[in-house]
Amino acid sequence: NGHDKREVRVWCDGCYDMVHFGHANSLRQAKALGDKLIVGVHNDDEIRKHKGPPVFTEEERYKMVRGIKWVDEVIEGAPYVTTLETLDKYDCDFCVHGDDITVTADGVDTYKIVKDAGRYKEVQRTAGVSTTDLVGRMLLLTKNHFKQGQYEYSVAKEHSTTMGQDSSARSPYTGCSQFLPTTQKIIQFSDGKAPKEGDRIVYVAGAFDLFHVGHLDFLEKAKAQGDYVIVGLHTDPVVNRYKDSNYPIMNLHERVLSVLACKYVSEVVIGAPYKVTQDLIDHFNIDIVIHGNTPVMMDVDGTHPYEIPKALGKFKNVDSGNEMTTDRIVERIIRNRQQF
Ligand code: CTP
Ligand code: C5P
Repeated sequence: NGHDKREVRVWCDGCYDMVHFGHANSLRQAKALGDKLIVGVHNDDEIRKHKGPPVFTEEERYKMVRGIKWVDEVIEGAPYVTTLETLDKYDCDFCVHGDDITVTADGVDTYKIVKDAGRYKEVQRTAGVSTTDLVGRMLLLTKNHFKQGQYEYSVAKEHSTTMGQDSSARSPYTGCSQFLPTTQKIIQFSDGKAPKEGDRIVYVAGAFDLFHVGHLDFLEKAKAQGDYVIVGLHTDPVVNRYKDSNYPIMNLHERVLSVLACKYVSEVVIGAPYKVTQDLIDHFNIDIVIHGNTPVMMDVDGTHPYEIPKALGKFKNVDSGNEMTTDRIVERIIRNRQQF
């Protein structure tokens, strides 16, 4: 079937609904166990049958998994129960899953068959992030949204640098993150590659909160404009200033990992200024600054954040062709909230 026989092919499968850096981290670990990573993603019907309707459509979920840099191939509509036939069909040596038990609608371990056959390996699940946790943050955000005013003023707007220091670390806005960011995790997620001589350097900035298909389509378009994409991520207080309510839902550290997991991204600026300055352009040798079609807010001093690259003829608007936004995701969750 054309595959190099010496090559170890690893199989992963799952729903990958609301893809987060926990999923990315499991795929990273799985890839490290072999040469090629094949990921089976269940279709909507299959998920509805075993655990209830997904938030994202199968097309959105397939695309998100394809966007993760450790994934070599996505198999659409993979069955919920992993069988030896499936592993053999895609020429995979073994299956990898996180160290949590998943069961079918009938309560059967979905990996029993591959476990019994000795074709199963386990990786460590990432603590502090899950779809359930993210949905919880969104519901909390909306509840506080309703009693606005009071809550907005009582919330402690700490700088993100004070977060992530202990296991009770939490986003100052949503108050839920239990994730412990470390330099090790950032190193594992990053390419560590500097731009090559002559590379055209693209810069984009934003919140990239709850990294979604809209961001992915945008970054794909941004990548097509050059060779090396740098993503500037604003700090939590900056995002909160222009997004208000209790955004961001994911703190800066979490957003860093989500963006680093994307195959179009080469480098991330952790806590980029809202305004694209001359210093920033010089420091990173930026050839072009790109923004999508979403609205741009003025900076605190009333100036346009892109006025400098615009004056230099280094600014471009690019249409991602995708209408997804973080607010839309929250709306979808609210609409489906009974199911969680
Ligand atoms: N996974 C992980 N760490 C997390 C969440 C998921 O390592 N914090 C892994 C799971 O163990 C699995 C893979 O990601 O190997 C994809 O499984 P999927 O069915 O999509 O995820 P869930 O287990 O349902 O996770 P979540 O509730 O976050 O969607
Ligand atoms: O809203 P946020 O700051 O996360 O957006 C980051 C970048 O992604 C912006 O340039 C924005 O215009 C772009 N984007 C897009 N299409 C979407 C969502 C975001 O082009 N559906």
